Amino acid sequence: MLPVAKKPVVQYVVEEMEANGINQILLVTGRNKTSIENHFDFDHELTRTLRETGKEDLLPELEYERMRMQFFFTRQRKQKGLGDAVLCAQKFTKSEPFTVALGDSIIGLHGRSRLVEHMCHVFEEEKPSCIIAVQEVTPDKVSSYGIVKPASDGDVFTISDMVEKPDRKDAPSNLAVSARYIFSPEIYGAINHTYAGKGGEIQLTDAIRILIREGRKVMGVKLPAGDIRYDIGNFGAYYRAFIEFAMDDPEYGEDVKAFIREKAGENSKEARLRENRALR
Ligand code: G1P
Repeated sequence: MLPVAKKPVVQYVVEEMEANGINQILLVTGRNKTSIENHFDFDHELTRTLRETGKEDLLPELEYERMRMQFFFTRQRKQKGLGDAVLCAQKFTKSEPFTVALGDSIIGLHGRSRLVEHMCHVFEEEKPSCIIAVQEVTPDKVSSYGIVKPASDGDVFTISDMVEKPDRKDAPSNLAVSARYIFSPEIYGAINHTYAGKGGEIQLTDAIRILIREGRKVMGVKLPAGDIRYDIGNFGAYYRAFIEFAMDDPEYGEDVKAFIREKAGENSKEARLRENRALR
Protein backbone atom coordinates (compact mmCIF):
# COMPACT_ATOMS: atom_id res chain seq x y z
CA MET A 1 0.00 0.00 0.00
CA LEU A 2 3.06 2.26 -0.22
CA PRO A 3 1.98 5.33 -2.22
CA VAL A 4 3.84 6.85 -5.14
CA ALA A 5 2.44 10.37 -5.47
CA LYS A 6 -1.35 9.97 -5.24
CA LYS A 7 -1.85 6.21 -5.36
CA PRO A 8 -0.63 3.05 -3.66
CA VAL A 9 1.80 1.09 -5.83
CA VAL A 10 -0.58 -1.88 -5.99
CA GLN A 11 -3.23 0.33 -7.57
CA TYR A 12 -0.89 1.29 -10.43
CA VAL A 13 -0.16 -2.38 -11.01
CA VAL A 14 -3.83 -3.40 -11.03
CA GLU A 15 -4.73 -0.49 -13.33
CA GLU A 16 -1.87 -1.44 -15.64
CA MET A 17 -3.19 -5.00 -15.82
CA GLU A 18 -6.70 -3.79 -16.62
CA ALA A 19 -5.43 -1.46 -19.35
CA ASN A 20 -3.58 -4.46 -20.84
CA GLY A 21 -6.77 -6.49 -21.20
CA ILE A 22 -6.63 -8.55 -18.01
CA ASN A 23 -9.97 -8.86 -16.21
CA GLN A 24 -9.29 -11.32 -13.38
CA ILE A 25 -6.52 -10.88 -10.86
CA LEU A 26 -5.34 -13.01 -7.97
CA LEU A 27 -3.42 -11.03 -5.38
CA VAL A 28 -1.03 -13.18 -3.40
CA THR A 29 -0.72 -11.38 -0.10
CA GLY A 30 0.55 -12.18 3.36
CA ARG A 31 0.08 -11.27 6.99
CA ASN A 32 -1.20 -7.77 7.77
CA LYS A 33 -2.12 -7.04 4.18
CA THR A 34 -5.92 -7.02 4.43
CA SER A 35 -5.87 -3.27 3.67
CA ILE A 36 -5.18 -4.24 0.03
CA GLU A 37 -8.50 -6.10 -0.19
CA ASN A 38 -10.36 -3.20 1.40
CA HIS A 39 -8.72 -0.67 -0.90
CA PHE A 40 -10.36 -2.10 -4.03
CA ASP A 41 -13.88 -2.26 -2.54
CA PHE A 42 -16.46 0.45 -3.16
CA ASP A 43 -16.14 2.88 -0.26
CA HIS A 44 -19.66 4.30 -0.04
CA GLU A 45 -18.94 5.99 3.27
CA LEU A 46 -15.97 7.91 1.88
CA THR A 47 -17.96 8.89 -1.23
CA ARG A 48 -20.79 10.19 0.97
CA THR A 49 -18.41 12.11 3.24
CA LEU A 50 -16.71 13.77 0.25
CA ARG A 51 -20.13 14.86 -1.05
CA GLU A 52 -21.36 16.06 2.33
CA THR A 53 -18.22 18.08 3.00
CA GLY A 54 -18.16 19.76 -0.40
CA LYS A 55 -15.10 17.84 -1.60
CA GLU A 56 -16.70 16.56 -4.81
CA ASP A 57 -13.54 17.51 -6.70
CA LEU A 58 -11.85 14.51 -5.03
CA LEU A 59 -14.45 12.00 -6.27
CA PRO A 60 -12.56 11.25 -9.53
CA GLU A 61 -9.73 9.88 -7.35
CA LEU A 62 -12.10 7.03 -6.46
CA GLU A 63 -12.84 6.18 -10.12
CA TYR A 64 -10.60 3.11 -9.85
CA GLU A 65 -13.24 1.49 -7.63
CA ARG A 66 -15.37 1.18 -10.77
CA MET A 67 -12.85 -0.80 -12.80
CA ARG A 68 -14.19 -4.03 -14.21
CA MET A 69 -11.46 -6.18 -12.73
CA GLN A 70 -12.61 -9.22 -10.77
CA PHE A 71 -10.48 -9.69 -7.65
CA PHE A 72 -9.35 -12.89 -5.98
CA PHE A 73 -7.07 -13.11 -2.98
CA THR A 74 -4.91 -15.77 -1.46
CA ARG A 75 -2.15 -15.73 1.10
CA GLN A 76 1.35 -17.02 1.01
CA ARG A 77 1.41 -18.32 4.56
CA LYS A 78 5.19 -18.47 4.80
CA GLN A 79 7.66 -16.18 3.01
CA LYS A 80 9.32 -18.93 0.98
CA GLY A 81 10.21 -16.86 -2.07
CA LEU A 82 8.80 -15.69 -5.37
CA GLY A 83 8.62 -19.19 -6.87
CA ASP A 84 6.52 -20.33 -3.94
CA ALA A 85 4.26 -17.24 -4.24
CA VAL A 86 3.59 -18.11 -7.89
CA LEU A 87 2.75 -21.67 -6.86
CA CYS A 88 -0.06 -20.22 -4.69
CA ALA A 89 -1.87 -19.36 -7.96
CA GLN A 90 -1.98 -22.90 -9.37
CA LYS A 91 -5.57 -23.67 -8.41
CA PHE A 92 -6.62 -20.28 -9.76
CA THR A 93 -4.96 -20.38 -13.19
CA LYS A 94 -5.48 -24.16 -13.68
CA SER A 95 -4.46 -25.11 -17.24
CA GLU A 96 -4.46 -21.57 -18.66
CA PRO A 97 -1.44 -19.37 -19.36
CA PHE A 98 -1.18 -16.41 -17.00
CA THR A 99 0.69 -13.17 -16.32
CA VAL A 100 2.73 -12.51 -13.20
CA ALA A 101 3.16 -8.86 -12.20
CA LEU A 102 5.35 -8.15 -9.20
CA GLY A 103 3.79 -5.61 -6.88
CA ASP A 104 7.00 -3.73 -6.21
CA SER A 105 7.39 -2.35 -9.72
CA ILE A 106 5.44 0.15 -11.78
CA ILE A 107 6.01 -0.05 -15.53
CA GLY A 108 5.81 3.27 -17.36
CA LEU A 109 5.08 6.71 -15.93
CA HIS A 110 1.86 6.33 -13.89
CA GLY A 111 1.82 2.67 -14.91
CA ARG A 112 0.64 3.56 -18.41
CA SER A 113 2.48 0.75 -20.16
CA ARG A 114 1.20 -1.65 -22.81
CA LEU A 115 4.09 -4.02 -22.31
CA VAL A 116 1.96 -6.92 -21.03
CA GLU A 117 -0.42 -6.68 -24.00
CA HIS A 118 2.62 -6.84 -26.30
CA MET A 119 3.99 -9.82 -24.36
CA CYS A 120 0.59 -11.58 -24.72
CA HIS A 121 0.75 -11.13 -28.51
CA VAL A 122 4.26 -12.59 -28.62
CA PHE A 123 3.08 -15.45 -26.42
CA GLU A 124 0.20 -16.25 -28.79
CA GLU A 125 2.47 -16.15 -31.83
CA GLU A 126 5.52 -17.96 -30.48
CA LYS A 127 3.86 -20.28 -27.96
CA PRO A 128 6.80 -20.38 -25.58
CA SER A 129 6.73 -21.80 -22.08
CA CYS A 130 7.50 -18.44 -20.61
CA ILE A 131 8.14 -14.81 -21.59
CA ILE A 132 10.06 -12.45 -19.37
CA ALA A 133 10.18 -8.65 -19.56
CA VAL A 134 13.76 -7.38 -19.33
CA GLN A 135 15.48 -4.04 -19.22
CA GLU A 136 19.09 -3.01 -19.61
CA VAL A 137 20.74 -2.06 -16.33
CA THR A 138 24.14 -0.64 -15.46
CA PRO A 139 26.81 -3.13 -14.28
CA ASP A 140 26.48 -1.99 -10.65
CA LYS A 141 22.81 -3.09 -10.67
CA VAL A 142 23.11 -6.64 -12.02
CA SER A 143 23.47 -8.12 -8.54
CA SER A 144 19.99 -6.83 -7.63
CA TYR A 145 18.08 -8.72 -10.32
CA GLY A 146 17.66 -11.93 -12.24
CA ILE A 147 19.93 -11.59 -15.32
CA VAL A 148 19.19 -13.41 -18.58
CA LYS A 149 21.53 -14.78 -21.20
CA PRO A 150 20.07 -14.02 -24.64
CA ALA A 151 20.60 -16.55 -27.43
CA SER A 152 19.79 -14.00 -30.13
CA ASP A 153 19.71 -10.25 -30.78
CA GLY A 154 16.71 -7.96 -30.99
CA ASP A 155 13.93 -6.76 -28.75
CA VAL A 156 12.24 -10.17 -28.67
CA PHE A 157 14.68 -13.04 -28.23
CA THR A 158 15.22 -16.55 -26.92
CA ILE A 159 16.85 -16.98 -23.52
CA SER A 160 19.46 -19.71 -23.13
CA ASP A 161 20.12 -19.27 -19.40
CA MET A 162 19.58 -16.94 -16.49
CA VAL A 163 21.07 -16.31 -13.06
CA GLU A 164 19.45 -14.86 -9.96
CA LYS A 165 21.30 -11.79 -8.67
CA PRO A 166 24.78 -12.70 -9.97
CA ASP A 167 28.00 -10.98 -8.99
CA ARG A 168 28.96 -8.39 -11.54
CA LYS A 169 31.73 -10.59 -12.93
CA ASP A 170 29.41 -13.58 -13.44
CA ALA A 171 26.49 -11.73 -15.10
CA PRO A 172 25.70 -13.25 -18.50
CA SER A 173 24.45 -9.86 -19.81
CA ASN A 174 23.07 -6.55 -18.57
CA LEU A 175 19.45 -7.58 -19.21
CA ALA A 176 17.55 -7.68 -15.92
CA VAL A 177 14.27 -9.47 -15.26
CA SER A 178 11.77 -6.67 -14.87
CA ALA A 179 8.76 -7.74 -12.83
CA ARG A 180 6.41 -8.92 -15.61
CA TYR A 181 6.22 -12.51 -16.87
CA ILE A 182 3.82 -14.68 -18.84
CA PHE A 183 3.80 -18.39 -18.08
CA SER A 184 2.25 -21.53 -19.41
CA PRO A 185 1.17 -23.89 -16.60
CA GLU A 186 4.42 -25.86 -17.17
CA ILE A 187 6.05 -23.49 -14.68
CA TYR A 188 4.24 -25.16 -11.77
CA GLY A 189 5.95 -28.51 -12.34
CA ALA A 190 9.29 -26.71 -12.57
CA ILE A 191 8.67 -24.83 -9.30
CA ASN A 192 7.80 -28.12 -7.61
CA HIS A 193 11.23 -29.40 -8.66
CA THR A 194 13.06 -26.30 -7.44
CA TYR A 195 15.11 -26.39 -4.27
CA ALA A 196 15.72 -23.35 -2.08
CA GLY A 197 18.29 -21.18 -3.86
CA LYS A 198 19.60 -17.64 -3.39
CA GLY A 199 18.65 -16.34 0.05
CA GLY A 200 17.25 -19.75 1.03
CA GLU A 201 14.12 -19.03 -1.06
CA ILE A 202 12.34 -20.92 -3.84
CA GLN A 203 13.45 -18.73 -6.73
CA LEU A 204 11.29 -18.28 -9.80
CA THR A 205 14.50 -17.80 -11.78
CA ASP A 206 15.66 -21.32 -10.81
CA ALA A 207 12.31 -22.78 -11.91
CA ILE A 208 12.60 -21.01 -15.28
CA ARG A 209 16.11 -22.48 -15.65
CA ILE A 210 14.56 -25.92 -15.29
CA LEU A 211 12.23 -25.11 -18.21
CA ILE A 212 15.26 -24.05 -20.27
CA ARG A 213 17.15 -27.22 -19.35
CA GLU A 214 14.14 -29.32 -20.35
CA GLY A 215 14.48 -27.75 -23.80
CA ARG A 216 11.37 -25.57 -23.54
CA LYS A 217 11.22 -22.20 -25.22
CA VAL A 218 11.81 -19.27 -22.86
CA MET A 219 11.76 -15.80 -24.36
CA GLY A 220 12.69 -12.27 -23.35
CA VAL A 221 11.01 -9.03 -24.38
CA LYS A 222 12.81 -5.74 -23.87
CA LEU A 223 10.89 -2.89 -22.32
CA PRO A 224 9.97 -0.52 -25.16
CA ALA A 225 11.82 2.81 -25.23
CA GLY A 226 9.97 5.19 -22.95
CA ASP A 227 8.61 2.43 -20.75
CA ILE A 228 10.67 2.99 -17.65
CA ARG A 229 10.47 0.38 -14.93
CA TYR A 230 10.08 2.01 -11.52
CA ASP A 231 11.46 -0.38 -8.94
CA ILE A 232 9.83 0.51 -5.65
CA GLY A 233 11.81 -2.17 -3.82
CA ASN A 234 14.66 0.12 -2.73
CA PHE A 235 14.62 3.58 -1.20
CA GLY A 236 16.71 5.39 -3.82
CA ALA A 237 14.51 4.24 -6.70
CA TYR A 238 11.35 4.78 -4.64
CA TYR A 239 12.24 8.42 -3.90
CA ARG A 240 13.03 9.06 -7.56
CA ALA A 241 9.74 7.48 -8.68
CA PHE A 242 7.77 9.54 -6.16
CA ILE A 243 9.40 12.78 -7.30
CA GLU A 244 8.95 11.99 -11.00
CA PHE A 245 5.27 11.08 -10.59
CA ALA A 246 4.63 14.14 -8.41
CA MET A 247 6.36 16.39 -10.98
CA ASP A 248 4.03 15.02 -13.63
CA ASP A 249 0.85 15.61 -11.59
CA PRO A 250 -1.49 17.80 -13.68
CA GLU A 251 -2.58 19.80 -10.64
CA TYR A 252 0.51 19.95 -8.41
CA GLY A 253 3.34 19.17 -10.85
CA GLU A 254 4.42 22.77 -11.53
CA ASP A 255 4.49 23.56 -7.80
CA VAL A 256 6.54 20.44 -7.09
CA LYS A 257 9.04 21.38 -9.83
CA ALA A 258 9.37 24.93 -8.48
CA PHE A 259 9.89 23.53 -4.97
CA ILE A 260 12.59 21.13 -6.17
CA ARG A 261 14.36 23.89 -8.11
CA GLU A 262 14.25 26.07 -5.01
CA LYS A 263 15.63 23.30 -2.78
CA ALA A 264 18.31 22.33 -5.32
CA GLY A 265 19.28 26.03 -5.56
CA GLU A 266 19.52 26.28 -1.78
CA ASN A 267 21.67 23.16 -1.65
CA SER A 268 24.06 24.27 -4.35
CA LYS A 269 24.35 27.70 -2.67
CA GLU A 270 25.11 25.97 0.61
CA ALA A 271 27.67 23.73 -1.10
CA ARG A 272 29.34 26.80 -2.65
CA LEU A 273 29.48 28.54 0.72
CA ARG A 274 31.02 25.46 2.31
CA GLU A 275 33.55 25.21 -0.53
CA ASN A 276 34.49 28.90 -0.17
CA ARG A 277 34.86 28.52 3.57
CA ALA A 278 37.08 25.45 3.07
CA LEU A 279 39.27 27.40 0.63
CA ARG A 280 39.80 30.25 3.08
C1 G1P B 1 12.60 -10.76 -8.09
C2 G1P B 1 13.20 -11.81 -9.00
C3 G1P B 1 14.32 -11.20 -9.83
C4 G1P B 1 13.80 -10.01 -10.58
C5 G1P B 1 13.17 -9.02 -9.60
C6 G1P B 1 12.52 -7.86 -10.33
O1 G1P B 1 13.56 -10.40 -7.13
O2 G1P B 1 13.66 -12.90 -8.21
O3 G1P B 1 14.80 -12.17 -10.73
O4 G1P B 1 14.82 -9.39 -11.31
O5 G1P B 1 12.15 -9.65 -8.82
O6 G1P B 1 11.59 -8.25 -11.24
P1 G1P B 1 13.16 -9.61 -5.78
O7 G1P B 1 12.96 -8.18 -6.16
O8 G1P B 1 11.91 -10.24 -5.29
O9 G1P B 1 14.32 -9.79 -4.87
